[in-house]
Amino acid sequence: MDPSGHSILVTGGASGIGLALASRFADAGSDVLICGRRKDVLAKAQAKHSKLRTLSFDLADAAERRALVERALHEAPNLDVLVNNAGIQQRIDLTTSPDWDQIHAEIRINLEAAIHLSTLLIPHLRTRSPAAIINVTSGLAFVPLASVPVYCATKAAMHSFTLSLRYQLRETPIRVIELIPPAVDTDLGGPGLHTWGVPLEEFADVAFASLDSEDDREISHQFSAQSSRASREELDAIFARMNH
Ligand SMILES: NC(=O)c1ccc[n+]([C@@H]2O[C@H](COP(=O)([O-])OP(=O)(O)OC[C@H]3O[C@@H](n4cnc5c(N)ncnc54)[C@H](OP(=O)(O)O)[C@@H]3O)[C@@H](O)[C@H]2O)c1
Repeated sequence: MDPSGHSILVTGGASGIGLALASRFADAGSDVLICGRRKDVLAKAQAKHSKLRTLSFDLADAAERRALVERALHEAPNLDVLVNNAGIQQRIDLTTSPDWDQIHAEIRINLEAAIHLSTLLIPHLRTRSPAAIINVTSGLAFVPLASVPVYCATKAAMHSFTLSLRYQLRETPIRVIELIPPAVDTDLGGPGLHTWGVPLEEFADVAFASLDSEDDREISHQFSAQSSRASREELDAIFARMNH
């Protein structure tokens, strides 16, 4: 997709991968709204990139998702791209009766919100041409890291949903893109947990260049390029290597 001239909503756009993509879209000439919960983090992102416009909503809550869509369409009536990027990652020990509310929050943010926002915005996006929905999944959608079991399950479900979404929208102007990051050095799951990942700017440059190309259906890099294309035998070997 041509990254210029769009009107874009990036969820989780005030930090990490979302902010790196949002600022590149804005620099390329698109109008970008970013959404997150923490107002101070949104303000900091805007201070760094004055072109970004900020919206504070909690995507765990269905009523807030509806309010976000209403507000985003009011602020940006020509909205033509949704980036479902917001996510959390929790270590959960399934042997210790973990708290359901904690688990459900991860499902609501990583999976329910992306599905809900897509369904809320499809009627509007169908009226725009071209339009796009970009779902941010993970290399862990294809082979789980067992210490973050619900996270991996939500990403596997998002990969599946993305395939069905693309198929159902095939005769509409809405292009469906899956962005599949490997481990990237962000604060996902808490500061300091992903410092061994690919540097954020490197991944964002690769992802953005792929978005701006013909080959933009599934965008992956390094580990996620391997896992998203691996055979069952290769996935078993990766699983064993990651979870020992
Ligand atoms: N970093 C990696 O290694 C990696 C690998 C594969 C996939 N990913 C995916 O990339 C996406 C971005 O993650 P990241 O690594 O850039 O981490 P990040 O910096 O923590 O970004 C996540 C963003 O989501 C927002 N968010 C979380 N819960 C929210 C909620 N209830 N409502 C609204 N916004 C919410 C956060 O803002 P607030 O907390 O202020 O709400 C934050 O800006 C995620 O979907 C993640 O799963 C990351």
